[in-house]
Amino acid sequence: MSNKTDEKKEVSRRDFLGLVSLGMAVLASIPVIGGAFRMAKANVRYEDSIKFKIGMIEDFPVGAVKKIDERKVFIFADEDGFSAISAVCTHLGCIVFKTEGGFQCPCHGSKYNEGGKVIAGPAPRPLSWFEISQGIDGTLVVDASKEVSAGTKYKFV
Ligand code: FES
Repeated sequence: MSNKTDEKKEVSRRDFLGLVSLGMAVLASIPVIGGAFRMAKANVRYEDSIKFKIGMIEDFPVGAVKKIDERKVFIFADEDGFSAISAVCTHLGCIVFKTEGGFQCPCHGSKYNEGGKVIAGPAPRPLSWFEISQGIDGTLVVDASKEVSAGTKYKFV
């Protein structure tokens, strides 16, 4: 009688160890299976378009400085035309704010002059300038995928 109980205990222990092994195997395979699903998924980031409308010419009177928060860009309008300067700090990507003489980053203190050139701080590069075009309907369009030389201004009729 006691012999049979020992055998039952032995089988139970064996079953238990088998279940533990199976559990460990399942746990170990999760990253592999996850990686396989990750590879099957297209490596595309669904972000806002980098070409966007900013408004009509009349929305930017001469002397206007407008920050479009959702697009992280400043739009300037003066007698020479329109320009678009990125509001993204080139250090670690914080959003700069406009100062009297240019721009400043609130994160680590980088400062840029009015043209976006670095004048202080850890920022490694100047702020980007973007291409502006005019759509058929007269809307101004910024293309943040097309960087242009600092100082580039666009005139539209
Ligand atoms: Fe702008 Fe660091 S992110 S200075």
